[in-house]
Amino acid sequence: MVTTYKELLNRADAGMALLRVLTDNSFDSVLITDSSQEEKIIYANEAFEQLTGHDPCSVIGKTPRILQGPGTDAKVISRLSVALKSGGTFEGKAINYKKDGTPFIMHWRVLPIKVGEEITGWVSIQRAGTVI
Ligand SMILES: Cc1cc2nc3c(=O)[nH]c(=O)nc-3n(C[C@H](O)[C@H](O)[C@H](O)COP(=O)(O)O)c2cc1C
Repeated sequence: MVTTYKELLNRADAGMALLRVLTDNSFDSVLITDSSQEEKIIYANEAFEQLTGHDPCSVIGKTPRILQGPGTDAKVISRLSVALKSGGTFEGKAINYKKDGTPFIMHWRVLPIKVGEEITGWVSIQRAGTVI
């Protein structure tokens, strides 16, 4: 993309300022990945740290796969992969792992960020689920 998300998120325009306040203060965890950087994380909010134990700064440049482990259901991840490849949306639940290794149920949505026809990135909204 012409403008990287990092530049975009720091831009001083009204729309971006509003979006920044919303995502920074959301009760739900928010992750954004950049398609031009192999789906690496370019933004995580404070709620992500509360949910996973990962400091948002420490996950920039990594992929959300860091949350997966032996108990993560491969069928759910394969459904997510299909959505990513086809530019669709995903909602599901699976076992994920906090930074200290504690398993928990992740309930999350992944949605494409479309600029015209181009998918420039993906946004995920995440919370702890109760049952799978
Ligand atoms: C924005 C976004 C958020 C994601 N969040 C999670 C997550 O919270 N938990 C998880 O297990 N996978 C998550 N994923 C999925 C992995 O990053 C990866 O796309 C998935 O494992 C499929 O790739 P693979 O088949 O190469 O593992 C997310 C993906 C994207 C694009």
